[in-house]
Amino acid sequence: MLAGMDQLEAIDWVLSRHRHDGTRLMQILRETQEALGWLAPETITRIAQGVGWPRARVEATAAFYSFFHLRPRGEYCLLWSDNIIDRMAGSRALMQRLCEALWLEPGRLSEDGLVFVHTTSDIGMGDQGPALLVNYRAATRMTAERVDAMAELIRNRVPLADWPQEWFQVEDNLRRAGPLLGEAFTPGAALAAALSRGPDAQLAEIAASNLRGRGGAGFPTARKWQACRDAPLATDQTRIVVCNADEGEPGTFKDRVLLNSHADLVFEGMTIAALTVGARQGFLYLRGEYRYLLDTLEAVLQRRRDQGLLGRGILGTPGFDFDIEIHLGAGAYVCGEESALIESLEGKPGRPRLRPPFPVTHGYLGQPTVVNNVETFACAARIAEKGAAWFAATGTPQSTGSKLVSVSGDVARPGVYEFPCGITVAEVLDAAGVRNCVQGVQVSGPSGTTLTGEELGRRLCFEDVPSAGALMVFDCTRDMFEAAHNFAHFFAHESCGFCTPCRVGTQVIARLMDKIAAGRGSQYDLQELSRLHQLLQGTAHCGLGHIAGNPVFATLTKFRPAYERRLKSLEFEPAFDLDAELSQARQMTGRDDAGAHLAET
Ligand SMILES: Cc1cc2nc3c(=O)[nH]c(=O)nc-3n(C[C@H](O)[C@H](O)[C@H](O)COP(=O)(O)O)c2cc1C
Ligand code: SF4
Repeated sequence: MLAGMDQLEAIDWVLSRHRHDGTRLMQILRETQEALGWLAPETITRIAQGVGWPRARVEATAAFYSFFHLRPRGEYCLLWSDNIIDRMAGSRALMQRLCEALWLEPGRLSEDGLVFVHTTSDIGMGDQGPALLVNYRAATRMTAERVDAMAELIRNRVPLADWPQEWFQVEDNLRRAGPLLGEAFTPGAALAAALSRGPDAQLAEIAASNLRGRGGAGFPTARKWQACRDAPLATDQTRIVVCNADEGEPGTFKDRVLLNSHADLVFEGMTIAALTVGARQGFLYLRGEYRYLLDTLEAVLQRRRDQGLLGRGILGTPGFDFDIEIHLGAGAYVCGEESALIESLEGKPGRPRLRPPFPVTHGYLGQPTVVNNVETFACAARIAEKGAAWFAATGTPQSTGSKLVSVSGDVARPGVYEFPCGITVAEVLDAAGVRNCVQGVQVSGPSGTTLTGEELGRRLCFEDVPSAGALMVFDCTRDMFEAAHNFAHFFAHESCGFCTPCRVGTQVIARLMDKIAAGRGSQYDLQELSRLHQLLQGTAHCGLGHIAGNPVFATLTKFRPAYERRLKSLEFEPAFDLDAELSQARQMTGRDDAGAHLAET
């Protein structure tokens, strides 16, 4: 609670800091929760009155996101990253240790209402796990000693501010820099170059560079910007530039590094996009797990305003007005999908929209909107600064420039590597120091491609293996079924539930994987998994559903023995041991005729 304020005063104080049109609802909910601990029914009512929305609508938004709590979560809310890489590093055992030390069950508030411990899908710290969020602050490199000390601090109700600060240290782990990050960047340099070129020539420069989106799909950036720029505007509308920093794909953390240490490059790229398409408003959609970056990023934005790089008349150019607002997400992977992200920006549950119309013509509040990945904007800034030819000199014809790759798992040096597009997986792994023979590599997280150890010569580029920039490495001691099992639960948890094939299909896949894991699966279940994958690909509403069966299908195809050795034995095993049941019944009752009905049956 804010010092000296009662509950209603605290809510009104939060409301007073924001626009009252619902588009700031997510931030209002988060800040209120940070002040009050959770979102009680009367809190939701007051916020609804404040933003002028029906109460049910505010509650629907609050209920959609994992990081908003409509029930008390205690003074300490600890969410362990449940990414397979964190698990490989021992996260499950550490969470169990913490629960035992605190005498509680995962997923249940402690009886004294003090502490809640559970898992969350992934927190973007695959290079420095096991990691968790402590009251939404990332804590990294957990060990048994740290867990024991943490339990002690919680028992003694020590405020988070007095916990050892090194636990909350997040390293960049940038292991290799190239053309994008290898050289210092002077804020304003790229923007000045773009202004002297003018919007038309700047767009032509982006087109000549052949820059393609770094968020995964590789859509040509110039075509997207052109479509937004050409979209008609009503008199009260503006064009919008959105930076997608949701980075929810497990195993991906390169945008975290860009935002932490190269935010000027990213904001400058957004401002150049605004100049090119004619936008006045910009948003950085920052994933909730990166809450710890919020203050730093706000400070960079303020400095850029002070330097005349944001705001009205940027760099003294009349009519060039543009500013950026940060919108913090709240733990929903689907919000990385651009239309879901826009819904979330509007204060709604992050459910993907029907397309067309596409965001470039009808995006944020119906206005033409460009959505690009963090790295795409950083590349755009470098292209403005150094020119298209400089950019296109690196990489391959269809995949120009360099690529940031997050590497995690069984390597000696996990972290972020910048390599020219077209680099082989083997070369990246050499740099990262593979520890043991490689069994499999998951490229681009669960939604990406699964490679075997024999496929390491494949190249990371749009001509071969497209990548949003992540390699999760599994050595020969790992169980590829377990990886796929984890990914299946990830998609089941992250499905937004809007369409039946995905809502039900992802659950059925997860349950079938549970069944196989428990040794009760059959060949029929394996067929069912393949069938469900096809069903999802053909019928789901958005990209999440289309790819939700990918990792299971790919591992089933490439690592089939990992599934088959778990299938139930075909030899007859009586499911019911009559003699054991009878003797137990006799022991319990002390009567010789006990269980007679069992024998008769
Ligand atoms: C389920 C889902 C999650 C996504 N998550 C992200 C993300 O975290 N970051 C991102 O840039 N793009 C993500 N995308 C892709 C975006 O929809 C969009 O294509 C991208 O932001 C466009 O940027 P780009 O053209 O610069 O790549 C996701 C797509 C889907 C279907
Ligand atoms: S495919 Fe899944 S995530 Fe996408 S709209 Fe349907 S339920 Fe939601």
